[in-house]
Amino acid sequence: MSIIVTSDTPEIDPAEYRKVFGALPTGVTAITGLTVEGKPMGFVVGTFMSLSLEPPLVTFCVDKGSSTWPTLRSLGRFTANILSTEQLPICRALSRKGDEKFAGVDYEIGENGTPRITGATAWIDCEVLSEVVAGDHYMIVGGVDSMQATEEEALLFRGGKFGDFNLWPAPAPAAQKG
Ligand SMILES: Cc1cc2nc3c(=O)[nH]c(=O)nc-3n(C[C@H](O)[C@H](O)[C@H](O)COP(=O)(O)O)c2cc1C
Repeated sequence: MSIIVTSDTPEIDPAEYRKVFGALPTGVTAITGLTVEGKPMGFVVGTFMSLSLEPPLVTFCVDKGSSTWPTLRSLGRFTANILSTEQLPICRALSRKGDEKFAGVDYEIGENGTPRITGATAWIDCEVLSEVVAGDHYMIVGGVDSMQATEEEALLFRGGKFGDFNLWPAPAPAAQKG
């Protein structure tokens, strides 16, 4: 585990920090695992993204205050479920704290023993490779074991609001000369 420490931290207003990064749209991904007793656990992140193709790596950041991450870390594996526009209720359930987050959430257990949420835009089964302590968060690097995409549209988050991706209309063809 590495630790990132900065000595001359500038004065950044937390409200401004949130406003600036709130303007950047993200996906909505449920990080899930299964305890040895067979209980599904998980939480939602907007920080999940691809990191490397060769070898295939992913990353996300989790608050040090997460009650779920210590368990998933000790299990050493997780599934990243990219939530679809149909799954806002699942996003709300998994981004709450508490024991009953998975009530009414359908999932299947994949080969690496972690929950793949039914109807997600994609699932990515991963093992925990490394963790960087960065300020008030941990930055996780996961190695991809297997993955699959579906036709479902991904849910997006920006400025505290949820939405979907709207394609721009195709540009008009350039006028022909002569
Ligand atoms: C759209 C969205 C994005 C979020 N992104 C993150 C994130 O990247 N990292 C994080 O630690 N928490 C993030 N959260 C908050 C966690 O989902 C929330 O704190 C959750 O309750 C943590 O659960 P736990 O304490 O059971 O682990 C996000 C929540 C939402 C709704």
